[in-house]
Amino acid sequence: MSNAKHPAEPFKIKMIEPLNITTREQREKALKEAGYNPFLLKSKDVYIDLLTDSGTGAMSDNQWAGLMLGDEAYAGSKNFYNICDAVKDIFEYNYVVPTHQGRGAEQVLFPLLLTPGQYVCSNHHFDTTKAHVELSGAKARNFLIPEATDTGTYYDFKGNFNIPALEAFIEEVGSENVAFFIMTVTNNSAGGQPVSMANMKELKRVADKYGKRIVMDSARFAENAMFIKQREPGYENTSVKDIITEMYSYADMLTMSAKKDAIVNMGGMIAIKNDEEIYRGAQARCVPMEGFATYGGLSGRDMEALARGLYEGIDEDYLAYRLGQIKYLGDKLMEIGVPIQYPTGGHAVFVDARKILPDMPGYEFPAQAICNALYLESGVRPVEIGSFLLGRNPQTGEQEESALELVRLTIPRRVYTQSHMDEIVEGFKEVMAHKDELVGLTFDYEPPVLRHFLARLRPLNK
Ligand code: F0G
Repeated sequence: MSNAKHPAEPFKIKMIEPLNITTREQREKALKEAGYNPFLLKSKDVYIDLLTDSGTGAMSDNQWAGLMLGDEAYAGSKNFYNICDAVKDIFEYNYVVPTHQGRGAEQVLFPLLLTPGQYVCSNHHFDTTKAHVELSGAKARNFLIPEATDTGTYYDFKGNFNIPALEAFIEEVGSENVAFFIMTVTNNSAGGQPVSMANMKELKRVADKYGKRIVMDSARFAENAMFIKQREPGYENTSVKDIITEMYSYADMLTMSAKKDAIVNMGGMIAIKNDEEIYRGAQARCVPMEGFATYGGLSGRDMEALARGLYEGIDEDYLAYRLGQIKYLGDKLMEIGVPIQYPTGGHAVFVDARKILPDMPGYEFPAQAICNALYLESGVRPVEIGSFLLGRNPQTGEQEESALELVRLTIPRRVYTQSHMDEIVEGFKEVMAHKDELVGLTFDYEPPVLRHFLARLRPLNK
């Protein structure tokens, strides 16, 4: 236990999974076959996989042991009640509806909270969250703070909800046209950036003023709480568990993708503080969409791993190591001149591709060009968060230009070591040395919706 800037892993390795090391020639072939879209690569052709931190974490011996205690009863499984007990203990919410993952929770809950035509307001909707707001007939609006898009400047809580902009919007459209608020912790789309406790309190004040509910999008709730402990004055001596309880006292319910901070490969839930009517509604919708209301698409053993994961995810030694590992990678990248969203977030380092390739227009997808270059150099698979993901204006068909062109290096939980972080940095050294040779991309095949998953591309010089 040292005072290292980035604490070492507070665990040791009991089981290993070999990685595939490929040659540059093999990667060139694989990327061409994948239509220059890393989503279409086979994972066997990837060395370090930074596509997502979702469902890619390593479970502990305690979670694997819990699998053997799976109670596969169709109704009333004891593992479901273990989740309820953990939720009551950590969040102080009374009701739980399990779901197969985060978007399952969204599809069950949202239609209960809105009437078609209304707005849903968030610090930032995740893609599937926005999709489920829209599928329910409502309109999603994001309220980021200006600091969030200024990647080079330090700010403690870049994930915050822009409260003055929210209040101005409500006054403009009329309170009756706003359904509810979604607070995303941490704010994935802003770079895994945290939201402060003060900002949560402020949102609660606005919610009370206009009589609106607050839903916490809770994929990375524990990382957010640890940032509050590290950065917000007055919380340095409060336990992460108590910080979480306070965070959730300012909201009414939560949706959770348990594939992130609860460190399971599959799972999610809705939890509700005390609104029995919404709870009954969510149970009723869960049955046809996800499964009976005490399993929601999960096996008993999955629910046991989730119940245990909720506690492992809030362990403070683990969280200090987790945030430290991301910071280690970010610091090393900055040392070699790679511009990043600063400070680093909770689950990923976001590289500012526009600053690396200032002359490449958004419609040639500079961040995608860098993702591909990094894969070719080192076998690392990142993901583009920029114009390629954003897509076209549905009315005009014009390609929209994203406010930020980012390469997300998303770190799975408890999976890769510091040596792997160094490998990523080595890959970036090569990318930076050859950045002037990078060319943009154009479509060979462009699916009409959610195109970034399945599109096929071609470099503009081929
Ligand atoms: N909310 C947030 C903030 C998310 O980041 C995600 C998923 C979801 C909801 C949906 O959860 O995948 O379990 O259905 N984010 C992943 C990512 C996919 O790569 O950032 P899900």
